[in-house]
Amino acid sequence: GKGEFAHFMLKEIHEAPRAVARTLEGHVDWSRGRVAEGLLLPGGQRRGLRRLWLAGMGTAYHACLLGAWWVEQIAGIPARAVLASDFRDDPPREGEGERGLLVAVSQSGETADTLEAARAAQARGIPVYALCNVPGSTLARLADRVLMTRAGTEVAVAATKSYVAQMVGLLLLALALAEGEEGRVRRSQVLDGLASSVEAVSRSLALEPAMADLSRRLVRERAVYLVGRGPDHAATLEAALKLKEVAYLHAEAMAAAELKHGSLALIEEGTALLALSGRAHLAARLASNLREAASRGADVFVWTHLDGAPFQAARRTYRLPDPGHELLAPLVQAPPLQLLAYYVGLGRGTEIDRPRNLAKSVTVE
Ligand code: M6R
Repeated sequence: GKGEFAHFMLKEIHEAPRAVARTLEGHVDWSRGRVAEGLLLPGGQRRGLRRLWLAGMGTAYHACLLGAWWVEQIAGIPARAVLASDFRDDPPREGEGERGLLVAVSQSGETADTLEAARAAQARGIPVYALCNVPGSTLARLADRVLMTRAGTEVAVAATKSYVAQMVGLLLLALALAEGEEGRVRRSQVLDGLASSVEAVSRSLALEPAMADLSRRLVRERAVYLVGRGPDHAATLEAALKLKEVAYLHAEAMAAAELKHGSLALIEEGTALLALSGRAHLAARLASNLREAASRGADVFVWTHLDGAPFQAARRTYRLPDPGHELLAPLVQAPPLQLLAYYVGLGRGTEIDRPRNLAKSVTVE
């Protein structure tokens, strides 16, 4: 049941720290400072790996965007996130998939598009590494290798804790794919960060009252815009999806640098602009994008864990906990933005746990 919580969504957001802890459990050999043997690909396959596709739909696709970034940053292997539907529509051509790997991400393991992508890969000799949350699901059964995210049962249609667990799973996968001396220091720093991630994710939930407060500012908006650079943009895509899905609020995420290439025309006095800033070396550039929007009247709200970030243009800056490593910033960004979507939905009187027109698992294409 929902216990003390008014909705499953709220309960499940609060279960994120446990989802992180359980997904790490047994997947990391802390004493040797590396991911567990079971996550590794057979030696030859791993060494020869030339490219990765990461495919999923909806929230899982957003996790894939981050996953591709992590694989490139941590393992140094070219990786591309694709919608599972696009992968199955236009699978790799003859030869293109050689020494490639498809990482298929799905909470339910039953999403039709993702299953079709996995089958299309296998038909071309591309092995499938699945990340899923439901043991014994169709995807888990057909994949060549499986990493179980252990978020536990997710009842609300909106993916919350399962997204956080997917991020952890993809980080573990990126670590599992990395090898050799090069990048060893970075890998151990990421692992150290993961060691404190349960705590960090749990501290991010302390923003709940502030998010409930901000929801009152947004509840009557007709549209909100979200911006970030690189992985922060991926995180805003997911935050926007939550606002659409559970609050029925038109929310559009864009790359911050894209604002002045067209969308800035939408900004008028009082337009709500939400921004994520997870990377120190990009803060100044983001700040300049935000200044430009604020000077056109945007009401800017920023989420960041960075000290002394230069966001004078913001009406409010919400301080996120230190993620332990910059690559892990998306882990602490997610829960507060999920809470925001929840409270905006609550204020708008939507069917939070079962939004209109949607199903938990989309088993038809
Ligand atoms: O079960 P899956 O992870 O394959 O589901 C994919 C999407 O349908 C799912 O993430 C959907 O976007 C969520 N309802 C979003 O909250």
